[in-house]
Amino acid sequence: MRIFIAGHRGMVGSALCRRLSSEANVELILRDRKELDLTDDLSVSSFFREERPDGVIFAAAKVGGIHANNTYPVQFLADNVRMAVNAIQAAYENEVKRFLFLGSTCIYPRMAPQPIQESALLTSELEQTNEAYALAKITGLKLCQYYRRQYGVTYHSAMPTNLYGPGDNYHPENSHVLPALIRRFHEAKESGLDSVTIWGTGSPRREFLHVDDLADAVVHLMQLENPPNWVNVGTGEDISILDLAHLVAKTVGYEGRIETNPAMPDGTPRKLTSVDVLNRTGWHYKINLAGGIESTYQSYLDHIAQDELRAV
Ligand SMILES: NC(=O)c1ccc[n+]([C@@H]2O[C@H](COP(=O)([O-])OP(=O)(O)OC[C@H]3O[C@@H](n4cnc5c(N)ncnc54)[C@H](OP(=O)(O)O)[C@@H]3O)[C@@H](O)[C@H]2O)c1
Repeated sequence: MRIFIAGHRGMVGSALCRRLSSEANVELILRDRKELDLTDDLSVSSFFREERPDGVIFAAAKVGGIHANNTYPVQFLADNVRMAVNAIQAAYENEVKRFLFLGSTCIYPRMAPQPIQESALLTSELEQTNEAYALAKITGLKLCQYYRRQYGVTYHSAMPTNLYGPGDNYHPENSHVLPALIRRFHEAKESGLDSVTIWGTGSPRREFLHVDDLADAVVHLMQLENPPNWVNVGTGEDISILDLAHLVAKTVGYEGRIETNPAMPDGTPRKLTSVDVLNRTGWHYKINLAGGIESTYQSYLDHIAQDELRAV
């Protein structure tokens, strides 16, 4: 089977390459953004005509933090919609049998009941800070669903929770909470700081999935004869930010104090996905958080040693 992984140099795309390179009957088709700009419909169309993959895993996206999302909503909506529409349409026109579109749990309403079920989609308002990105991801998900309904092709989507693992972004301001904590505790240990203060009260609870588990779930979903139109991919377990900070500090070997700063806003008290649908298809996560943070810290150290830490 020839599979095109769109966005193969990203955190998710690299994990998919690691996972699929061990499959004997899979040949990977890979293009970086310089070779194939997915926002360019003519290039996408001729690429699919020439390569005619059997399957596509769509892990490409213009991603960014709250600041970037707020400042460039036009690009976050338009570029992400263009990429999804170009790829899904070209896949259908070139008889691609399977297409798996990756989104994220930001597609769900801001006030969705916890744990968030797939049925919460489009039931109320989205979070304003990343509305443009979420709308693009909802468009991709719906387009897959409509192609499946209208033309009978198996195009479907997966919505991962917060991911972590090798290839994460360690930018001091733009990174997600887990890589940010790894970097802060590592640097605090290196410079012998007595204490590290974390943002807010530390009480909000969040869910984390290792990116290698996500890649495994994607391969599992691609093999199902009748996959759900869209499905949450997570652990179904959450942890408070303060407990997470203690776990990261222990892994890194930081022995100073951990303090909170209740003057800073906490954000949503809890964000947890329901993984009942995914579990019923026969998949369950394997990498526990403590082990996953340990191997991620090792890859962080390796990247520093090779001067290849991603911080954009
Ligand atoms: N990371 C998470 O915590 C997380 C959680 C839930 C869901 N997801 C979802 O997983 C997917 C991948 O995320 P990620 O974390 O792997 O992001 P990432 O590391 O930023 O990777 C995104 C990839 O997309 C490529 N890309 C962007 N614009 C492109 C274009 N116009 N043409 C071709 N390629 C383009 C990028 O190429 P360049 O490297 O050249 O820019 C990069 O390789 C996204 O849909 C995201 O919403 C991620």
